Amino acid sequence: MNLRALAAKAVFQVLEKGVSLSVALPEQQQKLSSGKDKALLAELCYGVMRHLPQLDKLVSDCMNKPMKGKQRIVHQLLLIGCYQLYFTRIPAHAAISETAEACRQLKFEGLVKVVNGVLRNLQRNDKPLPTENDTLAFNTPAWLIKRLQEAYPDSWENIIEESHQRPPMWLRNNALRQSRDTYLAELAQLEIGASKGNSDNAILLDKATDVTLLPRFSEGAASVQDGAAQWAATLLAPEPKELILDACAAPGGKTCHLLESEASIDLVAVDFDAKRLARVQQNLDRLGLTAQVIHGDAANIDAWWQGDKFDRILLDAPCSATGVIRRHPDIKWLRKSADIEELAKLQAQILDHCWQWLKPGGTLLYATCSILPQENAQQVSAFLARTPDATLVPIAQQPQGDEIGWQITPGQDNMDGFYYARLIKG
Ligand SMILES: C[S@@+](CC[C@H](N)C(=O)[O-])C[C@H]1O[C@@H](n2cnc3c(N)ncnc32)[C@H](O)[C@@H]1O
Repeated sequence: MNLRALAAKAVFQVLEKGVSLSVALPEQQQKLSSGKDKALLAELCYGVMRHLPQLDKLVSDCMNKPMKGKQRIVHQLLLIGCYQLYFTRIPAHAAISETAEACRQLKFEGLVKVVNGVLRNLQRNDKPLPTENDTLAFNTPAWLIKRLQEAYPDSWENIIEESHQRPPMWLRNNALRQSRDTYLAELAQLEIGASKGNSDNAILLDKATDVTLLPRFSEGAASVQDGAAQWAATLLAPEPKELILDACAAPGGKTCHLLESEASIDLVAVDFDAKRLARVQQNLDRLGLTAQVIHGDAANIDAWWQGDKFDRILLDAPCSATGVIRRHPDIKWLRKSADIEELAKLQAQILDHCWQWLKPGGTLLYATCSILPQENAQQVSAFLARTPDATLVPIAQQPQGDEIGWQITPGQDNMDGFYYARLIKG
């Protein structure tokens, strides 16, 4: 099937069925053999998610009546066509004919003329991108713009701008295999441009590179992980032989990093989602690491753990993921405003429960990939108010002032948006 038809299928899954793009895209990519085609398919789907309101408006303005029901996939195909015309260097004639052919392949023969007509109209009229309201101007839902304006009155526009950039590729050097300097030297030998990040084993690549081209990647010499996520192991700072809980572990990026940073720890990796949990085991296997991988609820530890209380707990809580929109632009359309309060409730419940399983003197690191205070500083502030034996320990990297925890915003030092708060049980 033609690449535009596959793109329409993936976009349809996200926008009509609520499936995340990280699930919908690989399902379609596996139908293509060439790496170049897979990359173009991703570019079209990601591009539509980034610019959805503008594309929607441009396409809808060219149509007499909206596509409904099963025909919605043709609307999504038109978004893909429009994206090609406005945001790529694909020659217009090729973009239009391939998109029309995709319509035929999707078995909407009767709408091929409409697709052709709408795209030719867009091409001919050379209309500017619509910007008449905030949603169109910022390609972001109004509820999220409002929350960002409240939280970041001086920098919300910059945060949105950063959330639309293509994210860089970060690697985590596996300290059990070689030093970061050695791995950087190996990368340099292959002429792969890279530099050190601020945390111990972080490496920032000059440009995204196929992992199969990285030195000894399949043997576990390095892993792909954003620079912000790599602070978790440093901030939790496990000591030799300690009993550690990774309470929301899947897919296991931080689980593996904790073991790489201190191989002698006894690590319990738990997640609620069995499918995602399988990926924790796969990641451990690739890196030759061992942990107790448990399918369980972090808000009901008594149900699956009869052992000691934990020396340290990493709580990388389920969250809105508003800090990683640059990597997952579909989040803007899958999340709803009411989700934030629901998530904050769930986070508080897991946090309170995990706290009971922390030894006196132990450390709990609360983390999210959100940039909304309801899930971060406000969450931790409310926890401190209701938990007399909890003390917040400032993080050296966080800005001076009365900040509760370290809020990283997207693009800061090239990192994803992330939040950390380190709590000690008194
Ligand atoms: C932000 S992700 C964790 C990412 C992971 N720490 C990593 O670095 O790869 C949050 C995880 O929390 C899990 N989760 C949500 N509710 C949970 C619960 N009640 N108990 C355990 N895990 C839960 C989700 O399935 C999801 O995998």
